[in-house]
Amino acid sequence: MIETYRPIDQNGEPVHAHGGQIIAHEGWYYWIGEDRRGRNKVSCYRSKNLECWEFRNHILTLDSPQKQHPLLPTADLRLEVEGRKAGIGEGCNIERPKVLYNRKTGKFVMWMHWELPDDYKEARCAVAVCDTIDGDYTYLGSFNPIGHMSRDCTVFQDDDGTAYFISSARENLDTHIYRLSEDYLTIDKLERVLWPGQQREAATVFKRHGVYFMLTSGCTGWAPNQGSYAWSRSMIDGWSMRYPFGDETTYQSQSTWVLPVYHPESGETEYLYIGDRWGGKDGYFESGYVRVPIVFDSDTEIHI
Ligand code: GAL
Repeated sequence: MIETYRPIDQNGEPVHAHGGQIIAHEGWYYWIGEDRRGRNKVSCYRSKNLECWEFRNHILTLDSPQKQHPLLPTADLRLEVEGRKAGIGEGCNIERPKVLYNRKTGKFVMWMHWELPDDYKEARCAVAVCDTIDGDYTYLGSFNPIGHMSRDCTVFQDDDGTAYFISSARENLDTHIYRLSEDYLTIDKLERVLWPGQQREAATVFKRHGVYFMLTSGCTGWAPNQGSYAWSRSMIDGWSMRYPFGDETTYQSQSTWVLPVYHPESGETEYLYIGDRWGGKDGYFESGYVRVPIVFDSDTEIHI
């Protein structure tokens, strides 16, 4: 059994950054994720060593500044929802937030899953933007990408700066890979529909030695299930079939991110699998994390 990772911040509070990501920026690791304490929000912590976490800011809250999305005049700007209360937290439900740094515009762009408080029927994505990674993001609204349903989601930035938004579409039956616009603020096009009808969630993508890997979970709500991975030499074409990843519950976790960690002593890069170990609907605040290095059996075969 892999131990639950339950870090605390500098104030002794548990780190709430669920369904999140850890990214390196200017010598720090930033951990961004869902925080449902009180009113729903997105939290940001940072660390030098991936062990001591400093809470930085609630980077998106129900009170965040709002501005209509430049290319999506119909995007819905609601973050606060009158008369409907989420089972946990209040306001609309923001899940799986992920941030990308755009080298051309110098902006940090957050993509996330947006729902009304008490169901998953809207199936929208939402976007927010900021000048600094841990500053106050401006909310640009929510929408259905090119009209599609969009639930669990992630982002991936390629070496040449091309960025993708990946989400579960069509009632979670299909996995969509969208290319983002150059400024990362909107969707450019739907590049690929992966594994139609196979019901995947919790996608996360990383790249090693020119090979892209996509981890996903099955769809069993908060309960963990067998994860899988697929690989490809292009983000768009040639994805392999899915192979099992982890045991029948992915060691009681659901994928959310893979973090490359460079070790200067050995010159090696370790790829850290980060999963949520959810406490479930009633035990949500007991949710912890799983962090474990991925083992590469070959350039295209992995396990934990
Ligand atoms: C999971 C999903 C989570 C959350 C949960 C709600 O399958 O990955 O992000 O939406 O369902 O039941």
